[in-house]
Amino acid sequence: MNNKLPVGILGATGVVGQRFIQMLEHHPWFEVAWLAASDRSEGKVYAEAARWRLKTPIPPAVARMRVSPATPDGAPKVIFAALDSSIAAELEPRFAEAGCAVVSNSSALRMQADVPLVIPEVNSGHIKLIDVQPWRKKSGGYVVTNPNCSAIGLVLALAPIEQQFGLDTVMAVTMQAVSGAGYPGVASLDILGNVIPFIRNEEEKMEEETRKLLGSLNGSKVIPGGFAMSAQCNRVAVEDGHTESVSVRLKKKAQPEEIIAAWGGYRAEPQELKLPSAPDRPVVYLDASDRPQPRFDVDMGAGMTAAVGRLRPCGVLDWKFTVLSHNTIRGAAGAAVLNAELLKAKGYLG
Ligand SMILES: NC(=O)c1ccc[n+]([C@@H]2O[C@H](COP(=O)([O-])OP(=O)(O)OC[C@H]3O[C@@H](n4cnc5c(N)ncnc54)[C@H](OP(=O)(O)O)[C@@H]3O)[C@@H](O)[C@H]2O)c1
Repeated sequence: MNNKLPVGILGATGVVGQRFIQMLEHHPWFEVAWLAASDRSEGKVYAEAARWRLKTPIPPAVARMRVSPATPDGAPKVIFAALDSSIAAELEPRFAEAGCAVVSNSSALRMQADVPLVIPEVNSGHIKLIDVQPWRKKSGGYVVTNPNCSAIGLVLALAPIEQQFGLDTVMAVTMQAVSGAGYPGVASLDILGNVIPFIRNEEEKMEEETRKLLGSLNGSKVIPGGFAMSAQCNRVAVEDGHTESVSVRLKKKAQPEEIIAAWGGYRAEPQELKLPSAPDRPVVYLDASDRPQPRFDVDMGAGMTAAVGRLRPCGVLDWKFTVLSHNTIRGAAGAAVLNAELLKAKGYLG
């Protein structure tokens, strides 16, 4: 007998929606039972509605599924949401109000005070905010979010440093893959042979989300991390994987081998609970002087590990390094699946 929990995907035809379908194909706990997207796709079988862009084929059962309208009627109680943020702002609350657990990728509600913004390794305790959401009290529904795809790799690299040495100042410059802009995303004539030094709202999201993620929960409020932070974001002609050059000033003095040991030894609740999508090692330090690189390192830990390298002294702050993470796996669908696994392990999925 199949005891898997039925789940739905809102925005199932997009870049992140496709990753959800791929990651959930053989999931031990969840099974895709419902798909929804815009009016453009509604009523079509999935294989016709989606321009499938992943290297593995569409799972046959999903390929034949009809795309439902994006309303809660007939939807399962667990919803992975991968909608554009303007539509998410309208639809996610509607699903939560109807009693669904909405595990969202979009930025629409991430900074709302009662909505947890979670990376399970870093701040799993923040899921307690669910209990103060009005939807939870009325219908049992709620919204949990994962961060922006560039904040997530950065925060995985910063969390072990913050834990052991404290952060005073963070400066990050990103080189972000084109798949981060959805499909069809940036026009090829704009990006080939080019770097675009602007991604709308991205720098603001990185700065405020990083502080919320590394903040502390005080009753029903998150007190943001107190460090200074500056982000600069660029789009580059890479398919998958956001690379970031980071400089930090620490509160306590640290030797390079201590920082590398902090990354290498970093394990947290998802590893202790053995959540199915948790990588054995959330952060891996690469010794080679020219790594990490998206071409070689983006799939580390099945796309769930942040690869770090090039730790060296910084002439302005204390230390600088490079971090790479997979933007549609650890930065999106994989982040949400890991959040849902945490919610199930903590009894929030019934
Ligand atoms: N790509 C990444 O690396 C990444 C990383 C982290 C977070 N995110 C966030 O995840 C979300 C999805 O991103 P994406 O890259 O997958 O975008 P995308 O490829 O443009 O896909 C958008 C999805 O939303 C659906 N949609 C659009 N309008 C809708 C409506 N009115 N009602 C219902 N569904 C509608 C689309 O359906 P149709 O196909 O029918 O139009 C499609 O399934 C965004 O909020 C994005 O910021 C993306």
